Amino acid sequence: MIYLDNAATTPVSGSVLDAMKPYFSEKYGNPSSIYKVGQEARSALEHAREEAAKLLGASPKEIIFTSGATESNNLALKGVAFYWSQVLDVKPHIIVSSIEHHSVLDVAEYLEKNFGFEITKLPVSEEGIVDPKELEKSIRENTALVSIMYGNNEIGSIQPIGELSQIVRKANEGRENKITFHTDAVQAFQYLDTNVNDLDVGMLSLTGHKFYGPKGVGLLYVRDGVKFLPQTQGGSQERKRRAGTENVPYIVGMVEAMKNANKSGKEISVLRDYLVESITKEIPDVVLTGPKDNTKRLPHIAGFIFKKIEGESILINLDLLGIAASSGSACTSGSLASSHVLTAMGYDDLLAHGSIRFSLGKMNSRDDVDELMKHLPQIVEKLRGMSPIK
Ligand SMILES: Cc1ncc(COP(=O)(O)O)c(C=O)c1O
Repeated sequence: MIYLDNAATTPVSGSVLDAMKPYFSEKYGNPSSIYKVGQEARSALEHAREEAAKLLGASPKEIIFTSGATESNNLALKGVAFYWSQVLDVKPHIIVSSIEHHSVLDVAEYLEKNFGFEITKLPVSEEGIVDPKELEKSIRENTALVSIMYGNNEIGSIQPIGELSQIVRKANEGRENKITFHTDAVQAFQYLDTNVNDLDVGMLSLTGHKFYGPKGVGLLYVRDGVKFLPQTQGGSQERKRRAGTENVPYIVGMVEAMKNANKSGKEISVLRDYLVESITKEIPDVVLTGPKDNTKRLPHIAGFIFKKIEGESILINLDLLGIAASSGSACTSGSLASSHVLTAMGYDDLLAHGSIRFSLGKMNSRDDVDELMKHLPQIVEKLRGMSPIK
């Protein structure tokens, strides 16, 4: 099999699996138990927290372990919004970009629909990038939270987080109730600087399985002083901010994977460029979606629109040959709704239906791209021949 869907998930690496193993059946204690086996688990948990904090430029108490970025994003948005509505007694306004992952976008819509909170969805350019001026214009008196992803999962566009956070910093001058800037750094963590002080963010979400860690574990960084209401009750774990017994083996595994992250991304971006060049040169009527400038694109993601055909049909044909890719995000494939990301960038429904995302990982080589290119041009030609759209 040739796996070209690393933005959907990655396999657990050998060193991560080795780091996790002892915590399943030897050191299986509950970190809240006071006896030895519990304390062993507690010390592994706190060690993992220290390491994760160090890697993010944070302090350990600012790290909350969760079940993944979906939970982290829910906690960030709901936690801050409900703190404003319930504690400050102010109806909160939340700003998100229109190309966020559904775990941000749907939460914002839920809060608007069910609680009447105010939501602004910032537009993006045709390259999928937020204009800082749009953020500046949309900040209101009651703005509680700004949530803008670091790198997009469908098209790979990198947002100017540093610039955006400075706008929030400026808007906060003299404000009694400060706006929190949150970023979903799920796709970016593996390759970009995610030091929370360099980015100047108040909250940041990660999930383990996008960088060779396990699924079902993530974290939310919350800067000291940022106020939010916990969304899970029933225990005093995670300093009463997220109740529930901590998943020690998975947390240990995720942090091991964080330590192994290849921040440079150089090699993978060379491979991505080879893929982009091969597809755009060898196949007619193809659009590379997202930024033209490669420095504004995540090293591992390249999205395309193959005009006049359905992305899903290409996927099925590739799958029959043992090649895995995705049409948009994993969450949207399976449904025929066109991608909200491409629509926000100005593509019409017809074009958006022809989208395919290839995302590379450390197991891929030029041979994989060559193998893909042995088949993709014929698949596209065959499907276009059958297409009712001329
Ligand atoms: C940008 C982004 N945010 C959040 C998530 C959600 O992560 P998880 O499903 O691990 O909770 C994903 C996963 O596809 C993602 O790509």
